[in-house]
Amino acid sequence: MKTIAIANQKGGVGKTASAVSLAAALRTQHRKRVLLCDLDAQANATSWLADNAGENGKSTYDVIMRSASLPDCIVKTKSRIDLLPSNLRTANLDVELLGVIKFHERLSDALSDLPDNAYDYAILDCPPNLSMNTLNAFGAASVVVIPVEVKQEAFDAVSHLMTTLLKVTGGRSTIRPYGLPTFMNRTNLAKDILELMQERFQSLCLPPIHQNTRLAEAFAARKTIFEYDPTSSGAMDYMRATKELVNDLEEAKVRKSLRETAAD
Ligand SMILES: Nc1ncnc2c1ncn2[C@@H]1O[C@H](COP(=O)(O)OP(=O)(O)OP(=O)(O)O)[C@@H](O)[C@H]1O
Ligand SMILES: [Mg+2]
Repeated sequence: MKTIAIANQKGGVGKTASAVSLAAALRTQHRKRVLLCDLDAQANATSWLADNAGENGKSTYDVIMRSASLPDCIVKTKSRIDLLPSNLRTANLDVELLGVIKFHERLSDALSDLPDNAYDYAILDCPPNLSMNTLNAFGAASVVVIPVEVKQEAFDAVSHLMTTLLKVTGGRSTIRPYGLPTFMNRTNLAKDILELMQERFQSLCLPPIHQNTRLAEAFAARKTIFEYDPTSSGAMDYMRATKELVNDLEEAKVRKSLRETAAD
Protein backbone atom coordinates (compact mmCIF):
# COMPACT_ATOMS: atom_id res chain seq x y z
CA MET A 1 0.00 0.00 0.00
CA LYS A 2 1.27 3.45 -0.91
CA THR A 3 0.57 6.12 1.70
CA ILE A 4 0.22 9.71 0.47
CA ALA A 5 -0.08 12.65 2.88
CA ILE A 6 -1.75 15.82 1.57
CA ALA A 7 -0.18 18.51 3.69
CA ASN A 8 0.45 22.22 3.99
CA GLN A 9 0.33 24.17 7.25
CA LYS A 10 -1.39 27.01 5.37
CA GLY A 11 -5.18 26.99 5.52
CA GLY A 12 -7.55 26.93 2.57
CA VAL A 13 -5.03 25.94 -0.12
CA GLY A 14 -7.06 22.98 -1.41
CA LYS A 15 -5.77 20.11 0.76
CA THR A 16 -9.18 18.55 1.33
CA ALA A 17 -10.35 19.14 -2.26
CA SER A 18 -7.12 17.46 -3.42
CA ALA A 19 -7.35 14.55 -0.94
CA VAL A 20 -10.96 13.74 -1.89
CA SER A 21 -10.46 14.29 -5.64
CA LEU A 22 -7.22 12.32 -5.75
CA ALA A 23 -8.87 9.46 -3.82
CA ALA A 24 -11.86 9.59 -6.19
CA ALA A 25 -9.65 9.64 -9.31
CA LEU A 26 -7.64 6.67 -8.01
CA ARG A 27 -10.89 4.81 -7.34
CA THR A 28 -12.83 5.61 -10.51
CA GLN A 29 -10.13 6.16 -13.15
CA HIS A 30 -7.47 3.74 -11.94
CA ARG A 31 -9.70 1.17 -10.20
CA LYS A 32 -7.60 1.26 -7.04
CA ARG A 33 -8.80 0.41 -3.54
CA VAL A 34 -8.47 3.58 -1.50
CA LEU A 35 -8.60 4.43 2.20
CA LEU A 36 -8.96 8.15 2.96
CA CYS A 37 -7.91 9.08 6.50
CA ASP A 38 -9.27 12.40 7.75
CA LEU A 39 -6.69 13.76 10.21
CA ASP A 40 -8.29 17.19 10.55
CA ALA A 41 -10.64 18.06 13.45
CA GLN A 42 -12.59 20.31 11.03
CA ALA A 43 -13.62 16.97 9.44
CA ASN A 44 -14.26 18.47 5.99
CA ALA A 45 -13.28 15.30 4.11
CA THR A 46 -15.61 13.33 6.41
CA SER A 47 -18.53 15.72 5.72
CA TRP A 48 -17.79 15.58 1.99
CA LEU A 49 -17.86 11.79 1.69
CA ALA A 50 -20.04 10.62 4.56
CA ASP A 51 -21.89 13.66 5.92
CA ASN A 52 -21.84 13.24 9.69
CA ALA A 53 -20.21 9.79 9.98
CA GLY A 54 -17.61 11.13 12.38
CA GLU A 55 -19.91 12.90 14.82
CA ASN A 56 -20.81 10.06 17.12
CA GLY A 57 -18.81 7.16 15.74
CA LYS A 58 -15.23 6.09 16.20
CA SER A 59 -12.66 8.26 14.53
CA THR A 60 -9.01 9.08 13.92
CA TYR A 61 -8.86 10.04 17.60
CA ASP A 62 -9.57 6.42 18.65
CA VAL A 63 -7.03 4.98 16.22
CA ILE A 64 -4.21 7.26 17.39
CA MET A 65 -5.17 6.82 21.07
CA ARG A 66 -5.31 3.04 20.47
CA SER A 67 -8.79 2.85 22.01
CA ALA A 68 -10.07 1.12 18.84
CA SER A 69 -8.47 -0.76 15.96
CA LEU A 70 -8.30 0.91 12.53
CA PRO A 71 -10.59 -1.65 10.79
CA ASP A 72 -13.25 -1.03 13.49
CA CYS A 73 -13.23 2.71 12.73
CA ILE A 74 -13.38 2.58 8.90
CA VAL A 75 -16.68 3.42 7.24
CA LYS A 76 -17.73 2.64 3.66
CA THR A 77 -18.90 5.60 1.58
CA LYS A 78 -21.24 5.74 -1.41
CA SER A 79 -18.32 6.92 -3.55
CA ARG A 80 -16.68 3.53 -2.86
CA ILE A 81 -13.81 5.15 -1.00
CA ASP A 82 -13.28 3.76 2.51
CA LEU A 83 -12.99 6.48 5.13
CA LEU A 84 -11.40 6.87 8.54
CA PRO A 85 -13.65 9.70 9.79
CA SER A 86 -12.64 12.62 11.94
CA ASN A 87 -14.50 14.72 14.49
CA LEU A 88 -13.77 17.52 16.96
CA ARG A 89 -12.14 15.09 19.40
CA THR A 90 -9.27 14.70 16.93
CA ALA A 91 -8.07 18.15 18.06
CA ASN A 92 -7.48 16.75 21.58
CA LEU A 93 -4.66 14.57 20.28
CA ASP A 94 -2.25 17.50 20.55
CA VAL A 95 -2.73 17.47 24.32
CA GLU A 96 -3.16 13.72 24.82
CA LEU A 97 0.05 12.85 22.95
CA LEU A 98 2.26 15.33 24.85
CA GLY A 99 5.25 13.43 26.21
CA VAL A 100 4.25 10.15 24.55
CA ILE A 101 7.31 8.39 23.16
CA LYS A 102 7.21 7.74 19.41
CA PHE A 103 3.81 9.45 19.17
CA HIS A 104 4.40 10.17 15.49
CA GLU A 105 4.57 6.45 14.66
CA ARG A 106 1.05 5.65 15.83
CA LEU A 107 -0.75 6.11 12.53
CA SER A 108 2.01 4.28 10.69
CA ASP A 109 1.67 1.35 13.14
CA ALA A 110 -2.11 1.24 12.65
CA LEU A 111 -1.81 1.29 8.84
CA SER A 112 0.81 -1.45 8.81
CA ASP A 113 -1.51 -3.66 10.90
CA LEU A 114 -4.08 -3.65 8.06
CA PRO A 115 -4.31 -6.96 6.18
CA ASP A 116 -1.92 -7.19 3.20
CA ASN A 117 -3.55 -5.93 0.01
CA ALA A 118 -6.56 -4.43 1.81
CA TYR A 119 -5.88 -1.14 -0.01
CA ASP A 120 -3.67 0.07 -2.85
CA TYR A 121 -3.51 3.63 -1.51
CA ALA A 122 -4.02 5.41 1.81
CA ILE A 123 -4.59 9.16 1.40
CA LEU A 124 -4.10 11.31 4.51
CA ASP A 125 -5.91 14.68 4.64
CA CYS A 126 -3.88 16.83 7.08
CA PRO A 127 -5.02 19.84 9.15
CA PRO A 128 -3.69 23.34 8.39
CA ASN A 129 -0.90 23.20 10.96
CA LEU A 130 2.16 21.19 11.89
CA SER A 131 0.40 19.47 14.77
CA MET A 132 0.77 15.93 16.15
CA ASN A 133 -1.61 14.74 13.42
CA THR A 134 0.47 16.16 10.59
CA LEU A 135 3.60 14.69 12.17
CA ASN A 136 1.82 11.31 12.33
CA ALA A 137 1.01 11.68 8.63
CA PHE A 138 4.68 12.39 7.84
CA GLY A 139 5.63 9.37 9.94
CA ALA A 140 3.32 7.12 7.90
CA ALA A 141 3.66 8.46 4.35
CA SER A 142 6.17 7.61 1.65
CA VAL A 143 4.78 10.41 -0.53
CA VAL A 144 3.72 13.93 0.44
CA VAL A 145 1.63 16.04 -1.93
CA ILE A 146 1.85 19.73 -1.04
CA PRO A 147 -0.99 21.81 -2.53
CA VAL A 148 0.29 25.36 -2.97
CA GLU A 149 -1.94 28.23 -3.96
CA VAL A 150 -0.29 30.16 -6.82
CA LYS A 151 0.34 33.26 -4.66
CA GLN A 152 3.70 34.65 -3.50
CA GLU A 153 3.05 34.29 0.24
CA ALA A 154 1.79 30.72 -0.22
CA PHE A 155 4.93 29.78 -2.14
CA ASP A 156 7.16 31.38 0.52
CA ALA A 157 5.64 29.10 3.20
CA VAL A 158 6.72 25.94 1.34
CA SER A 159 10.33 26.13 2.59
CA HIS A 160 9.13 25.99 6.19
CA LEU A 161 7.05 22.92 5.49
CA MET A 162 9.94 21.19 3.66
CA THR A 163 12.29 21.89 6.59
CA THR A 164 9.81 20.30 9.01
CA LEU A 165 9.34 17.36 6.68
CA LEU A 166 13.11 16.76 6.60
CA LYS A 167 13.37 17.03 10.40
CA VAL A 168 10.53 14.59 11.05
CA THR A 169 11.62 12.05 8.49
CA GLY A 170 15.29 12.37 9.43
CA GLY A 171 15.99 13.11 5.77
CA ARG A 172 14.48 9.71 4.82
CA SER A 173 15.41 9.52 1.15
CA THR A 174 12.38 7.36 0.33
CA ILE A 175 9.88 10.17 0.99
CA ARG A 176 8.86 11.95 -2.23
CA PRO A 177 7.55 15.53 -1.88
CA TYR A 178 5.34 16.56 -4.83
CA GLY A 179 4.14 20.12 -5.35
CA LEU A 180 0.57 20.60 -6.56
CA PRO A 181 -0.22 24.16 -7.76
CA THR A 182 -3.81 25.07 -6.85
CA PHE A 183 -6.23 27.94 -7.58
CA MET A 184 -4.40 28.53 -10.89
CA ASN A 185 -5.75 31.50 -12.85
CA ARG A 186 -4.90 33.52 -15.94
CA THR A 187 -2.95 36.34 -14.24
CA ASN A 188 0.75 36.91 -14.96
CA LEU A 189 1.47 36.64 -11.25
CA ALA A 190 -0.02 33.14 -11.16
CA LYS A 191 2.10 32.16 -14.18
CA ASP A 192 5.24 33.50 -12.45
CA ILE A 193 4.52 31.57 -9.25
CA LEU A 194 3.82 28.42 -11.28
CA GLU A 195 7.27 28.77 -12.84
CA LEU A 196 8.84 29.18 -9.37
CA MET A 197 7.04 26.05 -8.23
CA GLN A 198 8.25 24.10 -11.26
CA GLU A 199 11.82 25.21 -10.48
CA ARG A 200 11.40 24.31 -6.80
CA PHE A 201 9.87 20.86 -7.27
CA GLN A 202 11.43 20.04 -10.68
CA SER A 203 9.98 16.78 -12.03
CA LEU A 204 7.94 16.41 -8.83
CA CYS A 205 5.72 19.39 -9.73
CA LEU A 206 2.29 18.06 -10.71
CA PRO A 207 0.12 19.79 -13.34
CA PRO A 208 -1.88 22.71 -11.88
CA ILE A 209 -5.45 22.67 -10.58
CA HIS A 210 -7.31 25.71 -11.91
CA GLN A 211 -9.75 27.75 -9.92
CA ASN A 212 -13.10 26.07 -10.50
CA THR A 213 -16.26 26.78 -8.52
CA ARG A 214 -17.63 23.33 -9.43
CA LEU A 215 -15.23 21.94 -6.77
CA ALA A 216 -16.85 24.04 -4.04
CA GLU A 217 -20.29 23.10 -5.36
CA ALA A 218 -19.36 19.39 -5.35
CA PHE A 219 -18.45 19.69 -1.65
CA ALA A 220 -21.80 21.37 -0.91
CA ALA A 221 -23.60 18.60 -2.83
CA ARG A 222 -21.60 15.92 -0.92
CA LYS A 223 -20.42 14.40 -4.19
CA THR A 224 -16.94 13.88 -5.58
CA ILE A 225 -16.13 16.11 -8.56
CA PHE A 226 -16.36 13.05 -10.82
CA GLU A 227 -19.91 12.35 -9.60
CA TYR A 228 -20.96 16.01 -9.57
CA ASP A 229 -19.54 17.24 -12.90
CA PRO A 230 -17.15 14.86 -14.63
CA THR A 231 -16.62 17.26 -17.55
CA SER A 232 -15.65 20.25 -15.37
CA SER A 233 -12.12 21.65 -15.49
CA GLY A 234 -11.80 20.61 -11.82
CA ALA A 235 -12.45 16.96 -12.74
CA MET A 236 -10.08 17.13 -15.74
CA ASP A 237 -7.31 18.79 -13.72
CA TYR A 238 -7.48 16.23 -10.90
CA MET A 239 -7.61 13.39 -13.43
CA ARG A 240 -4.45 14.74 -15.10
CA ALA A 241 -2.60 15.33 -11.80
CA THR A 242 -3.53 11.85 -10.49
CA LYS A 243 -2.42 10.17 -13.71
CA GLU A 244 0.93 11.94 -13.59
CA LEU A 245 1.39 11.04 -9.92
CA VAL A 246 0.51 7.36 -10.49
CA ASN A 247 2.83 7.11 -13.53
CA ASP A 248 5.68 8.76 -11.68
CA LEU A 249 5.27 6.49 -8.62
CA GLU A 250 5.17 3.41 -10.87
CA GLU A 251 8.34 4.55 -12.66
CA ALA A 252 10.08 5.25 -9.36
CA LYS A 253 9.14 1.73 -8.20
CA VAL A 254 10.61 0.15 -11.35
CA ARG A 255 13.80 2.25 -11.02
CA LYS A 256 14.15 1.18 -7.38
CA SER A 257 13.76 -2.52 -8.13
CA LEU A 258 16.27 -2.25 -11.01
CA ARG A 259 18.77 -0.60 -8.63
CA GLU A 260 18.21 -3.36 -6.06
CA THR A 261 18.68 -6.11 -8.67
CA ALA A 262 21.91 -4.46 -9.87
CA ALA A 263 23.19 -4.26 -6.27
CA ASP A 264 22.58 -8.00 -5.61
N1 LIG B 1 -9.53 24.62 -7.42
C1 LIG B 1 -10.50 25.23 -6.69
N2 LIG B 1 -11.26 26.20 -7.22
C2 LIG B 1 -12.21 26.82 -6.51
N3 LIG B 1 -12.50 26.54 -5.22
C3 LIG B 1 -11.78 25.57 -4.62
C4 LIG B 1 -10.74 24.87 -5.31
N4 LIG B 1 -10.19 23.97 -4.47
C5 LIG B 1 -10.85 24.11 -3.30
N5 LIG B 1 -11.80 25.06 -3.39
C6 LIG B 1 -12.66 25.57 -2.32
O1 LIG B 1 -11.85 26.42 -1.51
C7 LIG B 1 -12.09 26.19 -0.13
C8 LIG B 1 -10.82 25.67 0.55
O2 LIG B 1 -10.49 24.42 -0.04
P1 LIG B 1 -10.10 23.17 0.87
O3 LIG B 1 -11.08 22.98 1.97
O4 LIG B 1 -9.85 22.02 -0.03
O5 LIG B 1 -8.73 23.71 1.48
P2 LIG B 1 -7.92 23.12 2.72
O6 LIG B 1 -6.47 23.42 2.45
O7 LIG B 1 -8.29 21.72 2.96
O8 LIG B 1 -8.47 24.03 3.91
P3 LIG B 1 -8.12 23.80 5.47
O9 LIG B 1 -6.72 24.30 5.62
O10 LIG B 1 -9.14 24.64 6.19
O11 LIG B 1 -8.24 22.34 5.76
C9 LIG B 1 -13.25 25.21 -0.08
O12 LIG B 1 -14.45 25.94 0.02
C10 LIG B 1 -13.17 24.48 -1.42
O13 LIG B 1 -14.44 24.00 -1.83
MG1 LIG C 1 -8.92 20.73 4.72
